[in-house]
Amino acid sequence: MGRVAGKVALVTGAASGIGRASAIALGREGACVVLTDVQAKGEEAAAEIRKAGGKARFQMQDVTSEGEWAVVVGGIEKEFGRLDILVNNAGIAVSGMVTDLTFDDWKRQQSVNVDSVFLGTRAALPLMRKGKGGSIINISSIAGLRGAPRLSAYCASKGAVRLFSKAVALECAAIKDGVRVNSIHPGIIDTPIWGQVVPGTNEPLDLDAMSAFRVPLGVKGVPADIANAVVFLASDESRYITGEEMVIDGGLTVGSI
Ligand SMILES: NC(=O)c1ccc[n+]([C@@H]2O[C@H](COP(=O)([O-])OP(=O)(O)OC[C@H]3O[C@@H](n4cnc5c(N)ncnc54)[C@H](O)[C@@H]3O)[C@@H](O)[C@H]2O)c1
Repeated sequence: MGRVAGKVALVTGAASGIGRASAIALGREGACVVLTDVQAKGEEAAAEIRKAGGKARFQMQDVTSEGEWAVVVGGIEKEFGRLDILVNNAGIAVSGMVTDLTFDDWKRQQSVNVDSVFLGTRAALPLMRKGKGGSIINISSIAGLRGAPRLSAYCASKGAVRLFSKAVALECAAIKDGVRVNSIHPGIIDTPIWGQVVPGTNEPLDLDAMSAFRVPLGVKGVPADIANAVVFLASDESRYITGEEMVIDGGLTVGSI
């Protein structure tokens, strides 16, 4: 308990899955959490944190909107005067063979998964620097480390998040602003995002069967597996870690057994 006590955190895409679990875990560990999402049910996650004795509020935010980032971060500055943790988590999976994707599909994928991380990082850094530091955690994917069929646009977006994180980590380190930037690369985690993925022929999208077959540890992950890493990277326990890519995939990208 209290591993991020006194810190102010902003978690995007916090109405569901990994973002929801991360916000709840940060709240449990003592952070004041601002949850945002395009889905109003993010309010339920904020209420859950408050019910457990934590501090949290929910705000609607479309992470692709530059103006909305200014409103969200401006509101945090007014209310708390600081921002210590940013979890750029909101994301979608645009799936399909590359020849079946429209240019609009491609742009929507990059806008939600990559533009958002740029906009969020740029909006948050000045406030983090005022507080002499912070931790930015960008949720990439193992699809940002290697290719996956029917996920070309998604892979491109997650690869971009991986190297954007490293470049900004070095910029922050160079000016000794106390801000660390890391990416997390989840494998197969049981969340609603899988409903957006088009399965291959003869391959039902059954996460249990898929994990039993492909994941060395034999099982799918749950959002808490990622939330635990978010708390670690958000806390001072990880003070010497920046520009790192943390893979949480049950051994999936390590090799086969
Ligand atoms: N679940 C997995 O197996 C897995 C694996 C690797 C990476 N990821 C990444 O984890 C992150 C979270 O995904 P999840 O699995 O929890 O899926 P999810 O669908 O449960 O949650 C994604 C959330 O992002 C929100 N969102 C979508 N577009 C938005 C926008 N424009 N503005 C604000 N919020 C928006 C959604 O409303 C939703 O609440 C994503 O970046 C995803 O790519 C997930």
